[in-house]
Amino acid sequence: MISLVHRPRRLRRNPAIRDLVRETSLRSEQFVAPLFVTPGTGRIQPIGSMPGHARRSVDRTVEEARALADLGIRSFLLFGVPDAKDDDGTGAWDPDGPVPTGLHALREALPDAVLMADVCLDEYTAHGHCGVLRQRSDGTVDVDNDVTVDRLTRVATVYACAGADVVAPSDMMDGRIGAIRSALDAEGFTDTIVMSYAAKYASAFYGPFREAADCAPKSGDRAGYQMDPGNVREAIREVLTDVAEGADIIMVKPALAYLDVIARVRDVVNVPVAAYNVSGEYAMLHAAASNGWIDLDRAVRETLTSIRRAGADIIVTYHARDIARYLR
Ligand code: PBG
Repeated sequence: MISLVHRPRRLRRNPAIRDLVRETSLRSEQFVAPLFVTPGTGRIQPIGSMPGHARRSVDRTVEEARALADLGIRSFLLFGVPDAKDDDGTGAWDPDGPVPTGLHALREALPDAVLMADVCLDEYTAHGHCGVLRQRSDGTVDVDNDVTVDRLTRVATVYACAGADVVAPSDMMDGRIGAIRSALDAEGFTDTIVMSYAAKYASAFYGPFREAADCAPKSGDRAGYQMDPGNVREAIREVLTDVAEGADIIMVKPALAYLDVIARVRDVVNVPVAAYNVSGEYAMLHAAASNGWIDLDRAVRETLTSIRRAGADIIVTYHARDIARYLR
């Protein structure tokens, strides 16, 4: 027998000891379940690249949210998938659109739920960009920041009015957090929480979401407004700017390829940090599991634990049902 001062295996000897010393654990209250809401009734359109997820009309969304709530999920993030789109994305601020209608219905069905609404134009624009396009003097086209911010303030106000506890701008325009905060306050929605997608990267991992919301840009890409994957100091600047403009919660997105960003951001802010475990991250695990290459339950737990361990307080994840089932 060798004499060792440190035998770390002592603390791994059995499940009770491991549970006792675990530094990071998962609770269903930490998770936010995204829901894709369509107009109409009785509609459930499965999303091919996201097994277990579908676009649902409001009545079916309520059923889905109830089932998730029964498993312990309390927070929901709504995305609208309208039937018609136009160049300006006017459907985004239609008070009778799928998101406001969904918010009213969910509030009635689940009075204690935390209802969040994604604020962006891309699900509503025919061109698929996150804002209103303009032609620059040199003939090139880009998203007009300030016009878009003005539209986003309308969207946020409509969602707050429909009962959203949290509005979550995901567009990456400059100055939108301050503008949304003032617009909400001006309308008396001083208690509406603003969760900013503050460090949102131009990522390949949004692929399945773009199928789900039918919002892939018809031309060009989002690199002119979403962040470059090589940058982390810039993420800190984005996050601090949004906190200064009044963000109550800030988000890093995607999560897995950006765990270092989550950790760095956690160190510099004292507001809650959310991470978005995005559609491509979900699709990868399900694809591998359906081939029998990995054990889904364990991979989901390990993945979500890594995001919490990196520093996220809140995780938006399509695995909400997978994990809640496991945690029960
Ligand atoms: C934009 C938005 C996107 C996602 C959330 N909000 C798409 C994008 O920026 O292209 C992606 C979410 C995911 O991939 O799960 N409204």
